Amino acid sequence: MDDQHLMEKIVSLCKRRGFVFPGSEIYGGLAGTYDYGPLGVLLQENVKQLWYRRFVNERDDMYPIDAAIIMNPHAWEASGHVAGFADPTDDGKMFNVMFKTSVGAGEEATVAYLRPETAGGMFVNFKNVVDSMHPKLPFGLGQVGKAFRNEIAPRDFIFRQREFKQMEVEYFVRPAAWESSFEEWRLLMHRFAEEVGLSPSALHELDVPENDRAHYSQRTIDFEFDYPFGRKELWGLAYRGDFDLSAHAKASQVDLSYLDEETGERFIPHVIEPSLGVDRTVLAILASAYREDDMGGETRTYLALAPKIAPIKAMVSPLLKNKPELVAKAKEVRTALQKVHPWIAWDDNGNIGKRYRRQDEIGTPFCVTVDFDTLGEHPELADTVTLRHRDTGEQERLSIEEVAARLRAALE
Ligand code: GAP
Repeated sequence: MDDQHLMEKIVSLCKRRGFVFPGSEIYGGLAGTYDYGPLGVLLQENVKQLWYRRFVNERDDMYPIDAAIIMNPHAWEASGHVAGFADPTDDGKMFNVMFKTSVGAGEEATVAYLRPETAGGMFVNFKNVVDSMHPKLPFGLGQVGKAFRNEIAPRDFIFRQREFKQMEVEYFVRPAAWESSFEEWRLLMHRFAEEVGLSPSALHELDVPENDRAHYSQRTIDFEFDYPFGRKELWGLAYRGDFDLSAHAKASQVDLSYLDEETGERFIPHVIEPSLGVDRTVLAILASAYREDDMGGETRTYLALAPKIAPIKAMVSPLLKNKPELVAKAKEVRTALQKVHPWIAWDDNGNIGKRYRRQDEIGTPFCVTVDFDTLGEHPELADTVTLRHRDTGEQERLSIEEVAARLRAALE
């Protein structure tokens, strides 16, 4: 399949199966905006939760934060965004891509901006977290949320949008420790890429040359991904030095230095910033997972999603829907599996092959079928079900407890 067709197929599957819809579609859409449908929400939540677990939760040195999207505009002046967060238009003029809005009514109204990165909300809360949580360096803040950029040319589906989501860490270090910390986060990003199921051969690092780096960065590595439309930036890892805290301290006249109680030294910490776009991750996952093969003489489409990323973890089905005993038993099985994970689908429509295909297409790793043997037609098979594996189509006969254990293990 060529790359253009792959992209068309991903976009079409996303719409048909409820992952991602064009924004405001019934009004003809709005360029650069997309709406996540039910399955897209689930997939995206799995990505965000895994990020949260690996980048924040499991570490002793990370603190979550949820800052306001609209900030005092002086923050964006201090950070350099008002002066320099701009892209060239076709006729060579620089166009600031921050979305402007106004806050307050009538004459009182003042200009404000929708945040172009979640980072700003973390720098302005550095002192609040130091004063309330008393963390010792190194430590970091982590935030997931929306960011807005009035992109001149939004394109490539959810790759370049005007409203998107970021998962960002601002990690504060002693100046001398920046390189080791940069390396630590670089490795963590690679592990995360692997865990969400990105094709390792499609992931590349680019050490961004100085004249291409953002104004605040002393070193940046772009994690690039081979999307169907070319090799493009997926995530960024930046060494922001003391640029932000120093700039905010100067502009706000608030001391944002850190006192090392052991040495008595006072200094402005330096910052390492792993910045991951949620939507670009979702698209890279879909591009990595999309497969077509031949099964039973037909072309089938499936998403080889990692079970922990798949929106639906398993589907339970009674072999026939007009047999109340089968339906009742299958409901029992579904309830048992829902104790392992809440997102267990039910499907009793059409023949069993069609049900499997529907789940394959949305990446459900397991299908469980309840038949007459489950009810004890052959007593030695009583309380066993068929477990069917998405990628191979292989089936095995297992007890309900064994299926629950398999599901649990796959989600660990
Ligand atoms: N705080 C650093 C920062 O915002 P960035 O490279 O401008 O750096 C970080 O953005 C990440 O946010 C990108 O690597 C990408 O994943 C995502 N991103 C940026 N602009 C985007 C857009 N217009 N649409 C979707 N994702 C975007």
